[in-house]
Amino acid sequence: MAIRKIVERGDPILAKVCRPVTDFNARLHTLLDDMAETLEESGGVGLAAPQVGILRRLCIVEDSEGELIELINPEIVAYEGEQTGLEGCLSIPGRYGIVTRPYKVRVRAQDRYGITFEVEDEDLTARCFCHEIEHLDGHLFTEHCDHLLSDKEMEEYLREQEEENRE
Ligand code: NI
Repeated sequence: MAIRKIVERGDPILAKVCRPVTDFNARLHTLLDDMAETLEESGGVGLAAPQVGILRRLCIVEDSEGELIELINPEIVAYEGEQTGLEGCLSIPGRYGIVTRPYKVRVRAQDRYGITFEVEDEDLTARCFCHEIEHLDGHLFTEHCDHLLSDKEMEEYLREQEEENRE
């Protein structure tokens, strides 16, 4: 396994539409393993192939139980509800915005062997599914928020959240 370099905003690769994965071979498995290691090292919860410079439709998401889900050729097949909250991206380090997403999402994808499966999750993991799958069509979360929070706004937001949680 190896840690791959994460591409940052401004690189045209992040705006490209990725091609489907057609070969479920050792090369794909190496990429997935490298992405898992890269994600672990970065401390994030999701990573899409274009973020490591590969224009293929695959991403990985760590769910609320710490389980890593590999999504090859993923598609959102159902969603419901709404959530509004803080969102960031490993390709835009240290910056966050407030983004509204569905609360619950169902995804159909293939695993690393090409077997089709469906997975459903809510809250942060649902947010992450939406965020990572969008990367495969060249979209970033910044398209869903009017601005990125300043340090001061970030502090205020976190303080408000803390107060809400205490209540
Ligand atoms: Ni991202």
